[in-house]
Amino acid sequence: MRKTIIAGNWKMNLSSAAAIELATAIRNGIPGSISPQTEVLLCAPALFLESLAASVAGNSKISIASQNAAAWKEGAYTGEISAFQLASSGIKTTLLGHSERRSLFGETDEVLKTKVDLALEAGIRPVFCCGEPKEVREAGTHEDLVGSQIQNALFHLNAENFSKLVIAYEPVWAIGTGLTASAQQAQDMHAFIRNLIADKYGKELADGISILYGGSMKASNASELLSMPDVDGGLIGGASLVADEFLKIVECA
Ligand code: 13P
Repeated sequence: MRKTIIAGNWKMNLSSAAAIELATAIRNGIPGSISPQTEVLLCAPALFLESLAASVAGNSKISIASQNAAAWKEGAYTGEISAFQLASSGIKTTLLGHSERRSLFGETDEVLKTKVDLALEAGIRPVFCCGEPKEVREAGTHEDLVGSQIQNALFHLNAENFSKLVIAYEPVWAIGTGLTASAQQAQDMHAFIRNLIADKYGKELADGISILYGGSMKASNASELLSMPDVDGGLIGGASLVADEFLKIVECA
């Protein structure tokens, strides 16, 4: 049975002290009754990863993840942090290909292919983000675009490596806008992604992949989105910065 993952993406927010306070509040607030299949992730600024990992230690339901990893293994890449360095700090998961990385930092499918390979080589689980901008949704070609993002960056992997991935579908028009994909729109895209994976790697493997939805998910819409059969969790930006709001989403899982 695949996991449900409720992941907060803090982006470039919070001071060191505020980050520790928030992580501690979330750690302590995770209900004891949470399903064994549910996992909570906090994707935090790189600078805080190790201290946050110490703050949440002792609760196996929650872990700290990176928001990015470099496209190189090591060397003269000032300011970058490699997947191997993340692994050496005890980090086990990283986001890759968030739409902000694609649009603001020029990450292409080709770069992401390399990043995915390096993360897997380092033993880091990638949460691979995909999603279409508004004009693509309006043109009705969103499945073509998301399909190509997945095929170009991921379909070179063998089945064993592919099965280690988590996918996050984040329609760009719903990120930070207050607009949310309807539960049906999310379900339709998640089912499309799962079928694409099944066609390439088989139904059994596809059924084991967690596909998260991101884009203005909050306490008031989480239960409807999470009730869809192919929505296996959320990647939450703004609403992950307030412990009570985020914990209400965790309770919907
Ligand atoms: P919001 O939840 O703020 O729309 O952000 C979504 C997101 O980008 C998570 O990665």
